Amino acid sequence: MIGVFDSGFGGLTILKELKAALPEYDFLYLGDNARAPYGPRSFETIHRYTLEAVKVLFERGCPLVILACNTASARALRTIQQRELPTLAPENRVLGIIRPTTEEIGFYTKTGHIGILGTAGTVISGSYPLEISRFFPQIQVAQQACPLWVPLIENGEIDSPGAGYFVQKYMDALLSRDSEIDTILLACTHYPLLEAEIRRFTPPGIQIISQGAIVARKTAEYLGRHPELDKRVSKTGKIRFLTTDTAEFFKKGASFFWNEPISVDSLTFV
Ligand code: DGL
Repeated sequence: MIGVFDSGFGGLTILKELKAALPEYDFLYLGDNARAPYGPRSFETIHRYTLEAVKVLFERGCPLVILACNTASARALRTIQQRELPTLAPENRVLGIIRPTTEEIGFYTKTGHIGILGTAGTVISGSYPLEISRFFPQIQVAQQACPLWVPLIENGEIDSPGAGYFVQKYMDALLSRDSEIDTILLACTHYPLLEAEIRRFTPPGIQIISQGAIVARKTAEYLGRHPELDKRVSKTGKIRFLTTDTAEFFKKGASFFWNEPISVDSLTFV
């Protein structure tokens, strides 16, 4: 299977696109719902939690794990790839979602000004401005952390009046940093679930980009370039789900944005 990991429900926005791009592949999704959000946590904690998740996905038969979480990609990926993977499972692979997104995002802007919305962890890491400057050195990047958005989503509050207040607050803050932004990247996999609200507070003429389709396309290309890894991924078109919260909690929360019946197992990290 291909393992897909997120702190909670957000990675489902990536999984949906992976399923569309690679319908014959098997996926195992793990949401660490009991410990979400990751955004405000320290580097050490995010690394520890993410490593635990990667180990579980390896043990359950995933030779490839995608960190479908920007916070984990920004804070844990490099350490896992460089420090743990060579002894843990050198033949397996762990990929993040920042690199594939930054390889493409520069093609979307006409003004050369991009806005990034992410968790505090992603914004503090500076990963997006750094990676974008590698591929598109002429592009200006403004960032805004939106620490209350993930809790709103994880708690099923996206339609409440409070959600509108906090969406407007962070949108205004981002747009006041750079008036020439014409492209906003939702650099947290949870945020597409708030997209309707985000659009309400976005001036016309500014496009909002979700990274799911980009990541899915890049994953398909990656598997094409790595046939030895591709051969190790089972292909019966099945998707299974794991959560660190209860199966009931996951089923209820996921039903807002996953339209098919799902089979969920619960696990606890010790
Ligand atoms: N969905 C995760 C991301 O892409 C984040 C969230 C969190 O747990 O704070 O950053």
